[in-house]
Amino acid sequence: MAINLKGRSFLTLKDYSPFEIRYLLDLSRDYKQLKRAGVFPQRLKNKSIALIFEKPSTRTRCAFTVACYDEGAHSEYLGKNDIQMGKKESIPDTARVLGRMFDGIQFRGFDQKVVEGLAKWSGVPVWNGLTDEDHPTQALADLLTIEENLGAVKGKKLVYVGDGRNNVSNALLTACMKMGMHYTIAAPESLFPDRSLGDWASKVARETGAILEIEKDPFKAVKNADAIYTDVWVSMGEEDKPGIRERVESLRPYQVNGKLMAATGKNHTLFLHCLPAHHTDGVHDMEVTEDVFESSNSKVFDEAENRLHTIKAVMVATLT
Ligand code: CP
Repeated sequence: MAINLKGRSFLTLKDYSPFEIRYLLDLSRDYKQLKRAGVFPQRLKNKSIALIFEKPSTRTRCAFTVACYDEGAHSEYLGKNDIQMGKKESIPDTARVLGRMFDGIQFRGFDQKVVEGLAKWSGVPVWNGLTDEDHPTQALADLLTIEENLGAVKGKKLVYVGDGRNNVSNALLTACMKMGMHYTIAAPESLFPDRSLGDWASKVARETGAILEIEKDPFKAVKNADAIYTDVWVSMGEEDKPGIRERVESLRPYQVNGKLMAATGKNHTLFLHCLPAHHTDGVHDMEVTEDVFESSNSKVFDEAENRLHTIKAVMVATLT
C-alpha cells in the first residue's frame, strides 16, 4: 500500500492508521541505520522549522534540532518569552504568520487546542511535541524501542504503572490500540483514564485485536508483561496544583521496583520511561528504584535516542 503523508500534521496518533504508523516506524529504522552509517540524505534541505516551546524540554528539543541539522533544515527555537502568541497575538494570527515563513511547526505546551489551532491556521504541518493531553512523538519512539528489543509489537503486553490519565499514558494507549497491542494501566481509581478514551479504545480494539485493561492492583496488572512503563508522579506544570500531595500518596504502591518486575513472571520484561525520571534515592519514594532504572532490562536511553530517529521520520514524511 502506497503511503503519502505529505502535508499532514502530527497532533495525535488517533489521526494515523496502523499502516501509516507502520510506515513511520520503518522510516525511523531506516534513518537510524543511515545515521549510524554516517549517511544524511538531506531530505529537508532549504526548509525552515519553527520550534515553539512553552515548557522546558531536553529530548524533544534536541531531537527536533538535531533531526533538522542532519537533514539540512534550519530550526528556530521560539521559547515562551520569545514570541507573542497567546499574549499580544492570537493563535490564528501567529499561526498564519509562521506559516508564511516556516515549512513546519513543532509545538510543546499545555493545551491540545493550541496545537490544533496552529495546525488549522498555519497551512503547514504542525507536530505535537507534548501537550497536557498527548505525547505522540514519545509513543512512536516507544513503539520503535519495543520492536527493536522484542520483535513485532502486535500481541505484546505493555503495562503502564502510575498516573493513568497523563499525556504519556494517553499516547501509549492510543499507540497500542492502533497497533494491536495489549495495554494495561495499573493506577489508583482516582487516576483512571478519561472514559471517552476508553470508549474510543473499545472501537479501535475491535478492528486491530488490541486489548485494554484498567486495574487497581499493580501486581495483578503486570502478570505476563513484556514491558513495564512509568512516568514521574507529578507532571510538568502541575507542581503547584491543589491535590498533588494526595496524588503522590496514592501512587506510592505503584512504584516500579524489583518485586514488581519479578511479578511479571518473565525475565525479559523491559523497563521503559519517557524521562526525565526520578529514581528513588533510598530516602524518598519515587516512581522507580535505582536498581530497576540501571538494570539491563531498562531501555530508557534507547527510547531517548529513538526520539531523534522517529521525529526525523515524522518531519521527512510530512514535509516531502
Ligand atoms: N520525554 C520527553 O518528552 O522529554 P523532554 O521533556 O526532555 O522533551
